[in-house]
Amino acid sequence: MADATTTGSESSETIVGISRAKAPEPPLSDKPITGDRYYSTEFAQKEWDHLWTRVWQVAGRVDQLPEPGDYITYQVGHESIICVRGEDQRIRAFYNVCQHRGNQLVTAEMGSLAGGEFQCAYHGWRFSDTGVLNWVYCEEDFPQGNPCGKRNLVEIPSDTWAGFVWFNMDQGCESLSDWLAPIANQLDGYRMENMKRTHWVTVIGDWNWKCVQDNFNESYHLPFVHPETVASMNEHYEGCQFDLYDGTGHARMLMPGGGPGPNYQGNVERTFKSLGQDFAFWDFDPEPYRDDMAALRLALQARKRELGASKGYDFSSYNDDQLTDHYHYTVFPNISFSMKPDGCIWLRSAPHPTDPNKCVFDMWYLTMFPEGVSEYYSNSMRDWVSVDHQAEHQTGHHSEVSCGPGIDQDVAIWTTQHAGLRSRGYRGDYMPYQERRIRYFHDNIDRFLAMPPTPR
Ligand code: FES
Ligand SMILES: [Fe+2]
Repeated sequence: MADATTTGSESSETIVGISRAKAPEPPLSDKPITGDRYYSTEFAQKEWDHLWTRVWQVAGRVDQLPEPGDYITYQVGHESIICVRGEDQRIRAFYNVCQHRGNQLVTAEMGSLAGGEFQCAYHGWRFSDTGVLNWVYCEEDFPQGNPCGKRNLVEIPSDTWAGFVWFNMDQGCESLSDWLAPIANQLDGYRMENMKRTHWVTVIGDWNWKCVQDNFNESYHLPFVHPETVASMNEHYEGCQFDLYDGTGHARMLMPGGGPGPNYQGNVERTFKSLGQDFAFWDFDPEPYRDDMAALRLALQARKRELGASKGYDFSSYNDDQLTDHYHYTVFPNISFSMKPDGCIWLRSAPHPTDPNKCVFDMWYLTMFPEGVSEYYSNSMRDWVSVDHQAEHQTGHHSEVSCGPGIDQDVAIWTTQHAGLRSRGYRGDYMPYQERRIRYFHDNIDRFLAMPPTPR
């Protein structure tokens, strides 16, 4: 398994789980991150022409398309993409546009093809699950020749990894595996392809998409936006590790959990309360560690290791830190993977179709069901989930839908931040070194904006 090999300086030995080897710090610019990057329509258009049309993006989950003819659609910006499983079992991605006179072929978010073909609602043209135009009305009436077999759907590169369906609008793009290196081989050990999406929320928010990715690229806000976290994790930058993978835009943060950091001044009862559900699930008595929070974390790891198999978990590909700590990955340009022993919080921000002052933000929870268990209390989501139940898709304005208590705290801040970023009084950022993943993120956006527009 790829995750069990080391990277960087540990390359001489084999270890279990994700290597903690520190990535070399890449050079970063000192360019101010100005407000217009968030509200300007010209800047958003540049992002579309140079970035969104050139990056690998996620359309959905592979288990949404189990059978030939099953399809999903995904909208990013003004563009809609169809992904469909063919009779040959391959998943292909196409622009959702009929090649007669441009009508969108599919309006449903997911479905299954009747008769194995897409049929356009406007004049009835029919396309196969491999995108071939098979039938048109009055085929003899085209002076330029019968369009069948010629005016096929426009296919774009697609691939799968970790149970996600990916696509790229750049016909000349690098492969998905090259794009995701070196993140993918670290995450492979979580076996996300075996996880089930049990929560699916889409928030239409009044902020630019970068407010989200900036936010998940720093932990400086934790004591203020999530004050409860200081009792149960070592959020201080001195206790965390930040890795920026040069030339990729991807980054990670390793933050100790299972107890507070050494700077914690609060009451131990807060820590016990905050971790109470974890203690109960793992039948763990924290009392012996009341005066030694570092030992508490290690003892909790040992307990999970000891009882993991009996609870139906296979922790064999995780190191001990992965059982308590926060392994948080930001994948360029718009995804975060926040890994837990029993699943993954998956977060994505995408540009709104028409307005840079709005964003389409997704929160999915991918649950790893213990072996043989179909109904399960998700300790991470504080919610009962079922392996047989396809998660309902909740969509709404940020005042209408919830992403769970933790993420809702982040959601609440982005509106006021975006309003401030639009002010004439905002002079650009002034960031501490620990927020350098944000600088790196914007430097990588600028790297794309400096390229020619993506060819069609
Ligand atoms: S636009 Fe699709 S058949 Fe006319
Ligand atoms: Fe947060």
